Amino acid sequence: FSTKTKRSSVLLVGLCDSGKTLLFSRLLAGRFTNTQTSISENSANYKTKNEKGTTWTLVDLPGHESLRPQFLERFKASARAIVFVVDSAVFQKEVKDVAELLYSLLTDSVVTRNAPTLLIACNKQDITMAKSAKLIQQQLEKELNTLRMTRSAALTSQDGSDGTAVHLGKRGKDFDFSQLPMKVEFVECSARGSKGEDEDADIEALERSLAKL
Ligand code: GTP
Ligand code: MG
Repeated sequence: FSTKTKRSSVLLVGLCDSGKTLLFSRLLAGRFTNTQTSISENSANYKTKNEKGTTWTLVDLPGHESLRPQFLERFKASARAIVFVVDSAVFQKEVKDVAELLYSLLTDSVVTRNAPTLLIACNKQDITMAKSAKLIQQQLEKELNTLRMTRSAALTSQDGSDGTAVHLGKRGKDFDFSQLPMKVEFVECSARGSKGEDEDADIEALERSLAKL
């Protein structure tokens, strides 16, 4: 008998407008849908695109700042994987906010203990100005490295200790994603598709990663 709760959900997490709800709809039904900013979660069974056809519970969480924390709190323990959705077209402008959200996830004690697979979905690749997954990875590593220094300095000056939050990555080394306890993959995708709304989305790379869970 195991007291471990079964972790069978795949969470879609990210800032507002990154494309989580449209990806949710594309992954499940393949269709384009008009979306509005989410105020609650969407959840449905998702069958992976391989012979096994494993079923996960796909959960799309609201990105709005005032809602995000409470929904993450509710669902984080059930995560088998986290699809962290990034709007690649406005990445440059949002890099600090994206890094802060990722930092809070990666230093969460429940998340680091369970180590769900982290799929960073660099969405909106159909837009010309979109940044590549490679550039997004490099920038996030740089930004997380900075955040780690400023955050641990702040904690130390507050109470003289390191605090209870988990330390991000290896000490004494510049941060990179290979230092994390979980498997991390960067994939490029477009929930819209390069040919417009009536056409298929470009989400094959994401589907392949989900099939490997
Ligand atoms: P919140 O619910 O507010 O957290 O946002 P969200 O992450 O669920 O975003 P949503 O899926 O509602 O998409 C926001 C807008 O971006 C919508 O107008 C989508 O049609 C559009 N969008 C989503 N994915 C893509 C994409 O890959 N390319 C383009 N061009 N637009 C996209
Ligand atoms: Mg949404």
